[in-house]
Amino acid sequence: MLSYRHSFHAGNHADVLKHTVQTFIIELLKKKETPFVYHDTHSGAGRYDLFGEYAEKTGEYKDGIARIFQSIDAPKEMSPYLSAIHKMNHEGELRYYPGSPLLGRILLREQDRAVFSELHPTDFPLLLQEFRGDRQVKMYKEDAYSRLKASLPPKERRGLVLIDPPYELKHEYQDVLNAIEESLARWATGIYAIWYPVVFRENVDLIIKGLKKRGVSKMLQIELGVAPDSPARGMTASGMIVINPPWTLDEKMNEILPRLQSLIAPEKGHHFVRWLAGE
Ligand SMILES: C[S@@+](CC[C@H](N)C(=O)[O-])C[C@H]1O[C@@H](n2cnc3c(N)ncnc32)[C@H](O)[C@@H]1O
Repeated sequence: MLSYRHSFHAGNHADVLKHTVQTFIIELLKKKETPFVYHDTHSGAGRYDLFGEYAEKTGEYKDGIARIFQSIDAPKEMSPYLSAIHKMNHEGELRYYPGSPLLGRILLREQDRAVFSELHPTDFPLLLQEFRGDRQVKMYKEDAYSRLKASLPPKERRGLVLIDPPYELKHEYQDVLNAIEESLARWATGIYAIWYPVVFRENVDLIIKGLKKRGVSKMLQIELGVAPDSPARGMTASGMIVINPPWTLDEKMNEILPRLQSLIAPEKGHHFVRWLAGE
């Protein structure tokens, strides 16, 4: 059963962190002329109307992208991400926000390609509509991990896999670990960026422990929090675990995170970048 709709959360603080890391990785991949693939396992709809009923209901974007979109204090290193959002909006007014597939697509060059999978009966048609006729994009209404398995290794042997499940069901943490194990067996040098929410810290620890147990040899953890960990329900922070991160990603994130935190969560927030394995 698919009850999660990303439209309620589009542009929130977790999206800002996830999409900033996604953008940095893609921009670093672009430093070489050779083509790469951007594979988005849980794509969502692609584009979100922040004035629509879903986003307006929660207003989460107001404490996320709205705080940096026009801020003169936004780190200049975030300009590829912010320019992509500007491209979708008129005259600096923030109304539309790109999901990870659209952001990825905006950043690709002619020689690169994208693979998207999404199962939701409402979101998949929106994704199709967004990219219909785009020869650089392949879309599948298939399970995230079956599609990933079928697509690896990519012919380019370079690229990013973004893994962004809703984590509504407990087994989704284990699913991520199984998928990483299978994917690394097929494509050991790929970059895998796994998003995680901090609702219960034990679940994040479970992923990290599982990845270490599977012998992942190079991984970086990047986290941005808006409140301290709490036993009450609700997301207090989110992060990305990046397997095989491109060179300098750690430095770049270390540079911008303090400034990002001061815009998004100046009082009770936290941030860190740390190597879980390697370096
Ligand atoms: C967090 S949202 C994705 C947001 C998107 N990556 C972004 O950043 O804009 C998770 C999505 O995964 C989809 N989903 C859940 N289980 C799935 C599965 N097994 N295979 C493919 N998609 C799935 C949901 O319908 C939802 O749209």
